[in-house]
Amino acid sequence: KTLFLIGATVESGQRIAGCGMGPDAYRAAGLTTILRDLGREVRDLGNLAPAPLREVVPVNDRVHRMAECVAWTEALIEAGQQAATQGMPIFLGGDHSLALGSVAAMAAHAGREGRPLFVLWLDAHSDYHTPVTSDSGNLHGTPVAYLTGRDGFDGFPELAAKVDPARVCMIGLRSVDTEERAALRSSDILTHDMRDIDETGIVRPLREFLERVRQENGLLHVSLDVDFLDPAIAPAVGTTVPGGATFREAHLVMELLHDSGLVSSLDLVELNPMLDERGKTARLMIDLTASLFGRRVIDRPNRPF
Ligand code: ARG
Ligand code: MN
Ligand code: MN
Ligand code: MN
Repeated sequence: KTLFLIGATVESGQRIAGCGMGPDAYRAAGLTTILRDLGREVRDLGNLAPAPLREVVPVNDRVHRMAECVAWTEALIEAGQQAATQGMPIFLGGDHSLALGSVAAMAAHAGREGRPLFVLWLDAHSDYHTPVTSDSGNLHGTPVAYLTGRDGFDGFPELAAKVDPARVCMIGLRSVDTEERAALRSSDILTHDMRDIDETGIVRPLREFLERVRQENGLLHVSLDVDFLDPAIAPAVGTTVPGGATFREAHLVMELLHDSGLVSSLDLVELNPMLDERGKTARLMIDLTASLFGRRVIDRPNRPF
């Protein structure tokens, strides 16, 4: 399948300037070449323009730049669906509010194919606030709530298809707000915090989830937030949390995803090149992407997962 790179310079989902340079940082770090060297056909669709701004009424005055987030969501739903019919979209962010649109697009696409969409959320945060519960008002903290159909998103596009919470798996959690934690407790979302990973390793929860995707013949969207990674190896993000995934854990996740053959779309989000150290985070993110698309050290038979 052709890989379609869709840049979205969205940074309205949070308050630190710089995320909008993410797509170009991935390009400068050599994303297209790395994927082509793995034998993939790549088409870079360039950077998307947001839809025209509409007047929206935020549920409260904490909510930050909602009209822009809505405009990006609309554009991403459109572009994502189009790319998904022709190949595999890779969404280059931009902050994580990008996923309001990218996942909505993939849910709609999966719905049209009559297949369920599964979502793997690799993130320090659960991003399960609604605009009503968010203290920060930053909409990058809300996409999982939107996609699974929680209330509080008046003014955002109506979802063509919701994601079943039981088909969402979060790995890497280490910063979850009180309201999110309560809401997660009463939802069917699979949550794996860093304690789980320390106790059982990262492979077990991932394999279990992939097994379900396979059994239900699902599509799989992977949303990779830079802050999933430990800040020591990935400093270029506005919301670092200590104790993240190591270099080796992160590559292992990507390798297992590749071997599963199940991934149908990907977000690379929250990279803020202004906060990077000589490009190391951008480079790590594209190296992880290479692992997801089959880069390996030595050839070995695919092991069952
Ligand atoms: N829970 C916090 C908030 O709502 C942090 C969200 C961080 N999200 C992210 N995509 N980095 O503000
Ligand atoms: Mn996030
Ligand atoms: Mn995060
Ligand atoms: Mn809160």
